[in-house]
Amino acid sequence: MNKKLQTKDIKPLYERLGAMESIASKVTYGDFIEIETGRGFAKNGEIYELAKALSPWRKGPFRIDDFEIQSEWNSYIKFDILAPHINIEGKTVVDIGANNGYYSFRMEPYKPKQIIAIDPWAIFYLQFLFINKFINSKKIDFRLIGMEDMADEGIKADTVFCLGVLYHRSDPIAALKEIKAALNEGGELIIDNLVIMQEGCYALCPPASYAKMSNAYFIPSIDTMIGWLGRAGFVDIELIGTKKTELSEQRKTDWIEGLSLNNFLDPNDDTKTIEGYDAPVRAYFKCKRK
Ligand SMILES: C[S@@+](CC[C@H](N)C(=O)[O-])C[C@H]1O[C@@H](n2cnc3c(N)ncnc32)[C@H](O)[C@@H]1O
Repeated sequence: MNKKLQTKDIKPLYERLGAMESIASKVTYGDFIEIETGRGFAKNGEIYELAKALSPWRKGPFRIDDFEIQSEWNSYIKFDILAPHINIEGKTVVDIGANNGYYSFRMEPYKPKQIIAIDPWAIFYLQFLFINKFINSKKIDFRLIGMEDMADEGIKADTVFCLGVLYHRSDPIAALKEIKAALNEGGELIIDNLVIMQEGCYALCPPASYAKMSNAYFIPSIDTMIGWLGRAGFVDIELIGTKKTELSEQRKTDWIEGLSLNNFLDPNDDTKTIEGYDAPVRAYFKCKRK
């Protein structure tokens, strides 16, 4: 068994999920991923308690019969920006930093051949296993690995989604080259990254943290991001859009412990992070492997 599934917090939950039956459900893919089992699962029941035990739920939301998993992020806001650009019918897709698979699940109606969802954090994998007890996806192959492991796993895809991950990589151009290596010739990358809205080729390199994230390394301007993509071997680079993160997208809910966006911004000026940098803006790009 993968060592990440043997830790004292994860193992009992993994075993509970192993013992859980698959439950045939009707699934509707909208802002919520809505799961109807016909069994009336409700707040405070056994399924609800298991979902709670799998917290923190960062990505979602999901509805299971009569209760909602209100994740920290309303992930449909990002999905809606990307939806007009999703062209994956019959293709092999990689979802890097898949978290609990919310976006991978949302891609099912687009009829891909296969989705390889990768994320190195065990708790998100367990959330995926839980949701998949209802959805029973045969297309999503979730691997508990990081993007740096894709080459060793022999992963090759027609389309890669790399959403909200690049600023967590300490060497972003090397990370983009890892993505290039995982793409078939002519394959497509859809990527978003935090950016600074500054003219010219600059990147912010916070020495300690950005919006309280100690694992945010480089936050490029749009021109710098385009330069990184070009240097890594991508062409036909197109900016799809930019979006400031609002409290309607990221906020504290009952499904996470601790803090969220309003704690990461300056309490007296929400255009700045708590460290005094410009508040988070994401830019969305698509491009092709040469
Ligand atoms: C900010 S979240 C973004 C999640 C989702 N893709 C989205 O855009 O909403 C970053 C995700 O990347 C995952 N992650 C962290 N390091 C990673 C790595 N080396 N390779 C792949 N995923 C990673 C985290 O576990 C987390 O689920």
